[in-house]
Amino acid sequence: METGRTGNLSTASNTPAAASRSPIKRRVSFGTIQIPELSKRLITEILETARISSGKYVRLFEERFAELLGVKEAVALSSGTDADILALSVLHDFGAKQGDEVIVPALSFVATGNAVVHAGFKPVFVDIDRKTLNIDVHQIESAITEKTRAIMPVHLMGKPADMDGVNAIAKRYGLAVVEDAAEAHGARYKGKPVGTLGDLGAFSLYVAHIITTGEGGIVVTGNEAYAQILRSLRSHGRACKCKECTLNTTSGFCAKRFKSEDGGDIRFVFERLGYSSKMNELEAAIGLGNLECYREILDKRRNNLLHALKRFERFRPYLATIQEEPWEEIGPHAIPIVVQEGASFTRSELGHYLEQEGIETRTLFASMPTQCAGFAYLGHRSGQFPNAEYIGRHGLHIGVHQDLGLEEMEYVMERLEKFLEAYQK
Ligand SMILES: Cc1ncc(COP(=O)(O)O)c(C=O)c1O
Repeated sequence: METGRTGNLSTASNTPAAASRSPIKRRVSFGTIQIPELSKRLITEILETARISSGKYVRLFEERFAELLGVKEAVALSSGTDADILALSVLHDFGAKQGDEVIVPALSFVATGNAVVHAGFKPVFVDIDRKTLNIDVHQIESAITEKTRAIMPVHLMGKPADMDGVNAIAKRYGLAVVEDAAEAHGARYKGKPVGTLGDLGAFSLYVAHIITTGEGGIVVTGNEAYAQILRSLRSHGRACKCKECTLNTTSGFCAKRFKSEDGGDIRFVFERLGYSSKMNELEAAIGLGNLECYREILDKRRNNLLHALKRFERFRPYLATIQEEPWEEIGPHAIPIVVQEGASFTRSELGHYLEQEGIETRTLFASMPTQCAGFAYLGHRSGQFPNAEYIGRHGLHIGVHQDLGLEEMEYVMERLEKFLEAYQK
């Protein structure tokens, strides 16, 4: 397409209004949710038995999720944010102190930075690489101090962060790696599922994600001790942390309950500061149904995403997106769109236009330290994280979910083309 010409915005055939005259207007929503028959059947059964709080279906969901990722342990929680918080909180059992530091990318959904603070740590922000939208590993080492305990890479938009780079630095400095894989279900890095490449991996199960329980989160780890701590943390720091709680799954007797040193009830012995963050059975039922059609959902989303990314090339140099590299498979969360320096239109103009055309948009998050008020207390100055800040001002993302198909992807491409023809001077 011809994007470099000088347009005259006032001519009849070359106006925003003309750009809007699409023969068929489609709806390209950002997210969707599947409530498969299995979920409906389980929900009815759960409601009939009135055994709603965390029990056998939560455990089954954990087992299936762990199996899918080929990892030993999965601990289900009430949100992806809690998955980040609790995964980081595990470090307190291994000597990390309040106020110690965790390195995170400056650009992410704000939950990443919030989680670091809520887990009792100071977030130390590192700028991102604009091509990948992920943490720039070349800038990590200079952010490490005596107080650094962990690196928390985010696989933004399902694109794997440079995990070889992150893990090598973590090993050199004796740091933990906690992956924020909230948006990266199905993503693979050098053949391995994202979320299993560090010490702990945190996923969101929020409704717009590839595997969902409606609201929810889950942490995976290969380390059984970490999983036990997570089970304690999600339930107020209790001393009981069995994978399957006999009291919650049967009406039976728990032989372990009164085996504490002083014969007290271990359900009321609190070993550490905890949270209240359990998943319930109804949420697990939605998740179990979703796992049944996971492969189909993933294939559809990948098909949509790869089609869109291939077709995106022609919008250069005005719009940019991510690319899939030979060593990775992107977990198809959404399509990022970044308005580039040479464009003569703003993100708001593009976003407004797409919304009018039925294409739902979201901004591509923000530089947490300099564009999110909650982190102002850290005293960072605008300009310190130029790449994250650029995306915070110029980035959008749109849906690729399983209820969309190649026709919708083509519709988006055609609308973008029309927009550039009308708006690009
Ligand atoms: C990168 C990232 N981290 C954490 C979260 C938090 O997940 P939740 O909304 O389930 O709390 C999200 C939300 O989607 C996210 O995108």
